[in-house]
Amino acid sequence: MTSTMEARADAKRSTFAATSLGPVMGAEIVGLDLSKPLSAADIQRLQDLLIEYKVLCFRDQDLSIDRQIAFTKYWGTPLEHTMASHKRTGTREEVQVASNVGPDGKPNGKHPDVTAMRWHTDRSWRPDPALMTLLYGVEVPGEGGDTLFCNTSLAYDNLPDETKRRIDPMKVIHSVEYSRRTGTGGPPATEYELRIAPPTPHPLARKHPVTGKRAIFAGCHAWKIDGMPEADGRRLLDELMAFATQDRFVYRHKWRRHDLVMWDNRCTFHAATPYDTAKEIRITHRTVVQGTRTN
Ligand SMILES: [Fe+2]
Repeated sequence: MTSTMEARADAKRSTFAATSLGPVMGAEIVGLDLSKPLSAADIQRLQDLLIEYKVLCFRDQDLSIDRQIAFTKYWGTPLEHTMASHKRTGTREEVQVASNVGPDGKPNGKHPDVTAMRWHTDRSWRPDPALMTLLYGVEVPGEGGDTLFCNTSLAYDNLPDETKRRIDPMKVIHSVEYSRRTGTGGPPATEYELRIAPPTPHPLARKHPVTGKRAIFAGCHAWKIDGMPEADGRRLLDELMAFATQDRFVYRHKWRRHDLVMWDNRCTFHAATPYDTAKEIRITHRTVVQGTRTN
């Protein structure tokens, strides 16, 4: 077993390169084949880069479902998916397949997950929200179907000091029942989701467990502010979301076929953009790594 210090020393010996994807966040990793096992040095360096850049993109990867699960396990425990619409015969529990391909092999005109089009951070309705999500683009549209990523740590840093002081002690209640009820066109929360995730409080200005930096922890699952009338809490959450999701805090990922994108849910929101679901095909494989409790 390699110690952390040894792995850090090894990290300097890794061979791949990281290129910034722009001023907001994100890096492209060049020279790594994720279909093969990774060295401890590479894993340590990727871990450091994820903390630094928050979103990492690996182009032209040839990833089977089993290999995606193996890569996911480097980072922690893969979570099972919870939406019944994503179950597909023959796929593993840990992989959520999102596809708009009908039984005839043609685009079916339906978006497989409309809730993903609202700003959110994955599984924030759990007491232990997702640490990381890994999304593999099996097929991607020529136009649209981008993923927007919001740097919620940068957004927090740019809040007025008075707002920071106000929100730092606040708890926000996240609820999957609330977000599914208020979304348009999506399925209601499943019995399983309600059972595993009753409304749960989180710090509104959540401290990142690794960096200690605060980030706005809201998104579409954020229901109300603990101890505040619901309407007042709603207004505050709407204001924070409008502030955080300004273009200056957002990186837009334009997918290429066979991209693997992984992101840190503890300091980002994300949202999918529309595409022509009747003409273009989009198939993704998603794995999610369990995080730690926020309280
Ligand atoms: Fe998501």
